[in-house]
Amino acid sequence: MMRIALGRSPKSGGVTLLVSVVILGALIMSSGAGTLAAAQATPAAGATPAAAASITSEPFGDVEGQSVDLYTLTNANGMEVKIMTYGGIVQSINVPDRDGQMANVALGFATLEEYVAGNPYFGCIVGRYGNRIARGTFSLDGKTYRLALNNGENTLHGGEKGFDKFVWGATQVPDIQNGVALKLSRVSPDGEENYPGTMMVDVTYTLTNTNELQIDYHATTDKATIVNLTNHTYFNLAGEGSGTVANQQLQLNASNYTPVDETLIPTGEIAPVAGTPFDFTTATAIGDRIRDGSSEQITFGRGYDHNFVLDRPSPDDTSMIVAGTVTDPESGRTMEIRTTEPGIQFYSGNFLDGTITGPSGKVYRQGDAFALETQHYPDSPNQPNFPTTVLQPDQEYTSTTVYAFSTS
Ligand code: GLA
Repeated sequence: MMRIALGRSPKSGGVTLLVSVVILGALIMSSGAGTLAAAQATPAAGATPAAAASITSEPFGDVEGQSVDLYTLTNANGMEVKIMTYGGIVQSINVPDRDGQMANVALGFATLEEYVAGNPYFGCIVGRYGNRIARGTFSLDGKTYRLALNNGENTLHGGEKGFDKFVWGATQVPDIQNGVALKLSRVSPDGEENYPGTMMVDVTYTLTNTNELQIDYHATTDKATIVNLTNHTYFNLAGEGSGTVANQQLQLNASNYTPVDETLIPTGEIAPVAGTPFDFTTATAIGDRIRDGSSEQITFGRGYDHNFVLDRPSPDDTSMIVAGTVTDPESGRTMEIRTTEPGIQFYSGNFLDGTITGPSGKVYRQGDAFALETQHYPDSPNQPNFPTTVLQPDQEYTSTTVYAFSTS
C-alpha cells in the first residue's frame, strides 16, 4: 500500500490540468507594461479600502536573452508586494506601521542586474531542494544521485542553478475574492542539477485585503524525486536598510530543533530547545542570546541558522498552523507565519557582510535581517527519522505558507 508522505497526496489528473494552465498562461501572458486587471476587492474588517486590489506589470530587464517582468500586487489597503519572474523573487513588501507609515520590510536590490550578478537568495523561490543535502548525495530506489557541491562539501538550495535563477512563466489568477494572486510556473527537466524526474512546478503568490502574503506551492513529477520548496525573503520589520533586527521579538511554536554539525548538516537528533538559546517558545529579542559563546550550535551557525521542529499534534499532521510571530516594538509591525510544513529555518542574516547595498542606499551588515523559511528538515533524503521529501509520480506535492502583517 502506498504511504502518503507529509504534504504529498495522491494525484487527481493534476498533470493534464497543470499543462493546460501553463499553456493557457503562456498565451495570455502580458508583454510590456500595463494593468492586467483590477480584482474584486473586499474591504478588510474595520478598514476603509483606498481602491480595488490590482496587479500591474512592467519590463524589468533581460537574463540570457529572456525578458523578465516585475509585477506589483496592491491590495485594497494600499499594501504592495513586488515580485519578479526571475527566480519568483519578492523584491519588496510595503506595509504600514502602527501610525500608517509604509516601509519596505524585504531586503533586495533596485535592479535586475544586481540580482543576477550574485545575491544571497534574496526573496526567491528555493528549489528543487531548499536547504542542505550532506555531501551532495542521496539515494532513491537503489540509485545514487550526486549534486553540485556549492556550499563547502554540501549542496545548498538546489545546487548551482536552482529555481531561484530561472525565469518563470506568470499569469494573474482570476476571480480572487479577497485580493489578487499571481501564479508562477516552470518545468524543471529530468536531470536538471542531476535530480531525477521532470517536475511541473507552480507557485502562487496571493496578496489578500487583510494584509497577508500567501504562498501556495504545487509540484508533480514523472519519476520518483525529492522536493523541498520554500521562499527566502529576508525581513526587517523596521524597514530594509534600517540596521540590526536584534531588538525584534521572535516567538516560535517549536519545542524542538535539529542541531547541526559544523557544516550545518543536521546530526539527526531532534533536541529540545528548553534551556538553550534556541528557546523562542515565548517571545524573545533575536539578539538576546545570539552571542552566547557557550553554545556550540550558535558558533556553528555564526548565530541562528537552524531548522526548528514545529509543534504538531502528530508527525503526519499537515494542517495549517501558526509557526510563530515576529514583532518590531519600535514600529509596531508584526508578522505572523502560518504553514502546512513541519519545519522552519530561522536564519539571522549571518552572512550579510557589508558588501551589498539595498535600494534605499544603505549597506546590509550581519544581523540586519532574518529569514524564516518554512520547509521540510535539511538533509531529509539522508535522514530516515525525518519526514520524507520523496515525491512519487502518483502523488502531488502541496505546501502553503502565509506571512500575515498587522500592527500592535
Ligand atoms: C539559508 C542557509 C544559510 C545561508 C542562507 C543564504 O538560510 O541556511 O546558511 O546559506 O540561506 O545565505
